[in-house]
Amino acid sequence: MKSYVPVAALCVLLAGIQLGSVPAKKLSSFDPEVKMLLSKMSLEEKIGQMTQPELGPVLSHPGDMQKYFIGSVLSGGDSDPAEGNSLQAWTDLYDRTQNEALKTRLQIPILYGIDAVHGHSNVLGAVIFPHNIALGCTRDPALVERIGRITAEEVRATGIQWTFAPCVTVPQDIRWGRTYEGFSEDPEIVRTLGGASVRGLQGSDLSNPLSILACAKHFVGDGGTSASTAVRPGMPPNSKPRMSLDQGDTKLDEATLRRIHLPGYMAAVQAGVGSIMPSYSTWNGIRCSASKRLLTEILKQELGFEGFLISDYNAINQINPRDYKGSIEISINAGMDMAMVPSGYRDFFESLKALVNEGKVPISRIDDAVTRILRVKFAMGLMDKTRSPLADRKLHQTFGSPAHRAVAREAVRKSMVLLKNDHHVLPVSKDIARIHVAGESADDIGNQCGGWTIFWQGQSGNVTPGGTTILQAIKAAVSKTSQVTYSPDGSGAEGASLGVVVIGERPYAEGVGDRSDLSLGENDRNALANVKKTGIPVIVILFSGRPMIITDVLPQADAFLAAFLPGTEGQGVADVLFGDYKPTGKLSFSWPKSMDQLPLNINTSKEKYDPLFPYGFGLSF
Ligand code: BGC
Ligand code: BGC
Repeated sequence: MKSYVPVAALCVLLAGIQLGSVPAKKLSSFDPEVKMLLSKMSLEEKIGQMTQPELGPVLSHPGDMQKYFIGSVLSGGDSDPAEGNSLQAWTDLYDRTQNEALKTRLQIPILYGIDAVHGHSNVLGAVIFPHNIALGCTRDPALVERIGRITAEEVRATGIQWTFAPCVTVPQDIRWGRTYEGFSEDPEIVRTLGGASVRGLQGSDLSNPLSILACAKHFVGDGGTSASTAVRPGMPPNSKPRMSLDQGDTKLDEATLRRIHLPGYMAAVQAGVGSIMPSYSTWNGIRCSASKRLLTEILKQELGFEGFLISDYNAINQINPRDYKGSIEISINAGMDMAMVPSGYRDFFESLKALVNEGKVPISRIDDAVTRILRVKFAMGLMDKTRSPLADRKLHQTFGSPAHRAVAREAVRKSMVLLKNDHHVLPVSKDIARIHVAGESADDIGNQCGGWTIFWQGQSGNVTPGGTTILQAIKAAVSKTSQVTYSPDGSGAEGASLGVVVIGERPYAEGVGDRSDLSLGENDRNALANVKKTGIPVIVILFSGRPMIITDVLPQADAFLAAFLPGTEGQGVADVLFGDYKPTGKLSFSWPKSMDQLPLNINTSKEKYDPLFPYGFGLSF
């Protein structure tokens, strides 16, 4: 009777080994087909394959898809279907777009890219998984691979076939607003989980209709930038100088760059990743999007990457803000294959064409770029005339399904890190008389999900249906006789047997999320103080995109759980609270005592490494 557990575990293990061991077909094995197609293509048709506008701008110019032979589009973090973000609207938009692309002379289907970075995170009702920082705490590649499979299936339900994920950044300074997009400050965790994510998203075969194209990003060293107060190219000209790390400069010798920031890409390439996004950031002052050393010599020649490079959103413009055409020349010659040019696609198209005609970009480079893009399209089965490139709406049935949510819930409970548990406050009995829940984040799916959720920057509040807040999860977990009361500000906790205070950051994404102060907000502190002063035991749950400064509030908490950004399945938090799951999560980042210690990570010298909780910390009960 008892033996079913190990047997099941063995099956999972074997399945995992099998998945990992089937070598994905090499992308270059499609070169004979690609060559034939390439020989029929005009220069314009080739450049069209290299041009990726944002969908809104190109659709608002009827005829442009055909005129510029557009080979790919993206929907950015804030670009939604006019009808809203429903599954139906997204699927309709995809089909409409694909039908436009099929009207081009060669009828090459379009590759549609989106930031499905923790589930199909732009679509209402999709299951939203924990952000990578939380997945890093699970140390569980098989789980990350399963998450990739489910994400791929939900993305496919809308017809879309490409996600700009996984982010295999290795953030070294948690003041960076993109810290949560990284699995860990430790390259080893990023290597294992990054590879697993690619295998999950792409499956063992890209031609599987339930697989999508992955994109490892942002190559390379995006998480290694140093803090600066310089006004950056992306910022409005009169911005007040403030500390920022996003899109900054990574000052490292090549050996250190390779040791810390390259392993994730090595794993992604090994897993057969079909696309990689060069970073906005610079390496010793040189833009990654302009570096032939990085893009061609290291990535393509040395690592043997056979897929294509997609530039980041308007990143080519930043190479030389005063000379766009010159920037295109540098980037394409450095090895960029496809350009993310949201609204400036006409300018890109005409400039690149002129550069080829002037002999400044060799046609061999264009052919190489297009070969790489078409390899992927062939590998995905997009060129197979017997297969419809339109959405398979049967997949709507499993979109956001209980089975998918169950995996997200598993990820949530496995990613919770228990930082403190005095007097065995945890686990809590489900028969407890009364729990008082407090804090503005206790009943807020938006705060639970963080950035890149329906909105580019995320948003507090009820951003997406189908999930469970912590308050709802606690109510669902306790016995019928237990009472659950709630106040955002912690008032009214008197007489309860226990307080659960849910605090944390409000959603943000790139750029906007850089912070020189990571202390808790006033309202959160007050809520905690209000509950604490009633004298009942207090459990604190923190939602945040990174460790925060909790040194002064920790004494007020009897137990403290770092939940990071768990996504829609709050029930996974309750699984740990009530002891249905004994915590196993281990910190994927070092937890500092104070801001002046930053940057603080496993690469900090031993004498200076004095964190509140070290990398890898995590209690159980
Ligand atoms: C888009 C994002 C993009 C960002 C780049 C936003 O408007 O929605 O997708 O990453 O601009 O700056
Ligand atoms: C971000 C990328 C993202 C792209 C498209 C950029 O601003 O840096 O991570 O994939 O926008 O939204």
